[in-house]
Amino acid sequence: MQILDGKKAAQAIKDVLQIDVAQRANEGKKIPHLAAILVGNNGASETYVAAKVKACEETGFKSTLIRMDPDTTEFRLLEKIEELNADPDVDGILVQLPLPKSIDDKKVINAIDPSKDVDGFHPMSVGKMVEGLPTFLPATPYGIMLMLEHYKVETKGKHAVVIGRSNIVGRPMSILLSANKNPGNCTVTICHSHTANLKEICLQADIIVAALGIPEFLKADMVKDGAVIIDVGITRVEDSSRKSGFRLKGDVDYDAVAAKSSWITPVPGGVGPMTIAALMKNTYNACDTKN
Ligand SMILES: NC(=O)c1ccc[n+]([C@@H]2O[C@H](COP(=O)([O-])OP(=O)(O)OC[C@H]3O[C@@H](n4cnc5c(N)ncnc54)[C@H](OP(=O)(O)O)[C@@H]3O)[C@@H](O)[C@H]2O)c1
Repeated sequence: MQILDGKKAAQAIKDVLQIDVAQRANEGKKIPHLAAILVGNNGASETYVAAKVKACEETGFKSTLIRMDPDTTEFRLLEKIEELNADPDVDGILVQLPLPKSIDDKKVINAIDPSKDVDGFHPMSVGKMVEGLPTFLPATPYGIMLMLEHYKVETKGKHAVVIGRSNIVGRPMSILLSANKNPGNCTVTICHSHTANLKEICLQADIIVAALGIPEFLKADMVKDGAVIIDVGITRVEDSSRKSGFRLKGDVDYDAVAAKSSWITPVPGGVGPMTIAALMKNTYNACDTKN
């Protein structure tokens, strides 16, 4: 079993970006600028946004964190997005999800200028991704593809099973894995909460991407020997022995599944850092395309 170390792979990507940004600065060119909007004070969202801002600082990007009250109206949030759309200094806009229930997240995502859609959630970005055209790919699936590329994991002709069909992880993951590219060229089965015989389907998989948000859902008896396991899940579970009062759990029963797998991502330190690296790459490209 080998570890798909997201921290190392993400660092390698950020190191290259840091050199590229320094080069731009030397040439007097614009530095990439990410604007992140955080509505409310959800603990997990705070952590994710802080990690994204920190990655910007480490890599030499400019970042702006815009905090909005939990009772912010949809109208006010849309106004803020319009402001950032119109600001030529802002290259990428990220709205941290989930948003308060009173706000329609689809409306918010659709309001982002597609040329600044570094999370890759705008319908224009999604449509281009499906057609295989250059675009901003959704950060988590893109990060997973970058990790497979970094560790030279063979995907061509493999059967990949993706558990979860959300617009931000499972569905785009299935599209990227089945694309006629390297990595890619998988035969993909996408599963969800209504899938019958999930265990039998997983047992046929060469690659499993678990993205359902149920801690330790994927057990060793659902995995064939030598499978590649990508664990996207992040759930906070209570742990009174920790200062924070919680620890993070993935969707994979790690120790037992790792013993059967060829490659596996840990949680934390697997897909999470790759998501941030992918976001940074998108932001760099957003800046580089225009400036
Ligand atoms: N590492 C990262 O950077 C990162 C980024 C994003 C998300 N995440 C984590 O990834 C997990 C998934 O996120 P998400 O936003 O995609 O979640 P989501 O929107 O809640 O989607 C979960 C998906 O899992 C499916 N599902 C639920 N129970 C299932 C079951 N028993 N069997 C098969 N499928 C089942 C659902 O099916 P239905 O469609 O039928 O309801 C749905 O498609 C969460 O833990 C989240 O925190 C991590």
